[in-house]
Amino acid sequence: MRVLLGVGGGIAAYKSAELARLLMERGHEVQTVMTAAAEEFVRPLTFAALTGRKTLTDLFAIESAIEHIAVAQQNDVFAIAPATADLMARLAHGLADDFLTTVYLAFAGPVVVAPAMNVNMWQHAATRANLDTLLGRGHRIVGPGEGYLACGMTGAGRLADPEEIADAIEQELRTRRDLEGETVLITAGPTQEPLDPVRFISNRSSGKMGYALAEAAAARGAHVILISGPVHLPPPRGVEVISVRTAREMRDRVFENLEPASIVIKSAAVADFHLSAVPDQKVKKTAARMSLELDPTPDILAELGRKKGDRLLIGFAAETQNLQQEARRKLESKNCDMVVANFVGGAETGFESDQNEVVLVMRTGEVLPLPRASKHEIARRIFDEVMKLRLVLHAANER
Ligand code: CTP
Repeated sequence: MRVLLGVGGGIAAYKSAELARLLMERGHEVQTVMTAAAEEFVRPLTFAALTGRKTLTDLFAIESAIEHIAVAQQNDVFAIAPATADLMARLAHGLADDFLTTVYLAFAGPVVVAPAMNVNMWQHAATRANLDTLLGRGHRIVGPGEGYLACGMTGAGRLADPEEIADAIEQELRTRRDLEGETVLITAGPTQEPLDPVRFISNRSSGKMGYALAEAAAARGAHVILISGPVHLPPPRGVEVISVRTAREMRDRVFENLEPASIVIKSAAVADFHLSAVPDQKVKKTAARMSLELDPTPDILAELGRKKGDRLLIGFAAETQNLQQEARRKLESKNCDMVVANFVGGAETGFESDQNEVVLVMRTGEVLPLPRASKHEIARRIFDEVMKLRLVLHAANER
């Protein structure tokens, strides 16, 4: 494979030389691009010697004015290590003021970013926002690790190990575009069940997990239909978003769009009960107490389980106790192929959080815990497992 290695100007740049050597050893071709700041830490000659290719540095000192386009087209993956706070900001905002950032804009393939910086810079709201932008583009972020930093502080900010970055690069190349030509139907967010024109019943779902799944599926080449309850999230790039409010509307849109889908993921937190006859006028505070009589909403996942045909069906189970048993029960009762179980009792994971920690319960009997990670990373891992599970189930059907 042809790896474009972008080196930013941080002390960790010396570790990128090790990464370049490792990639060469694993049989890849490596083309290095350095920022001017990176040259202050490591000489271009170091990379040229390790990779056998001239290191590209200056946008204006090259033979052809369009070399950045050619470089972008000739490589399979763009790995940026170390990505400093400044470089992440320039990538996030689409600046093209040097060779590296110009190639980045011209590059259409998968991007792996390995940040390295001081812990306070890493935790700054500006860097967080830039990180979200890069994650939202479907880029893979590796690290940073925690430990002693060159600035003398201890914390998150160390460049991930070259081995880990090389693994992520190879994985990115392998899993790329494996959903090309398929339609993936995903539901996300809460539903709102009106009680009158101004009030409703809902839940704490933010929709972040479902949106991350939609982005992950789109990054793998799928046509994604995202049926979303009311959330405060921008529509993911390249995804068809259908907005709904109630469980009933969600059910109807799901079945209208089911036909082309080969994979259906029900990550929405659908309200279980609603008021069947909603009053036209605002309800007045006339009595000292009031009680509501609610009817069940349609169980969309259960209906999908009956009508799924040969589609792969993935449900979610948000639980506060007996996580695995509940997930297994839902998998069987709703005829799912996988249930993503998440514990919603803690503060760090589950609703509203950017992080999650889930257990995948499969139809095959396998149970796979995914350790705590960003919802984007969890989404990517879920699709890795969905693709594997589909192969196993197809093979079992053929036997
Ligand atoms: N779900 C659905 N339609 C509903 C309720 C839930 O499609 N009316 C789906 C959710 O999208 C999720 C899964 O069912 O994928 C699990 O939802 P959950 O509310 O946790 O399960 P319930 O079946 O409601 O079971 P319980 O109330 O016993 O936890």
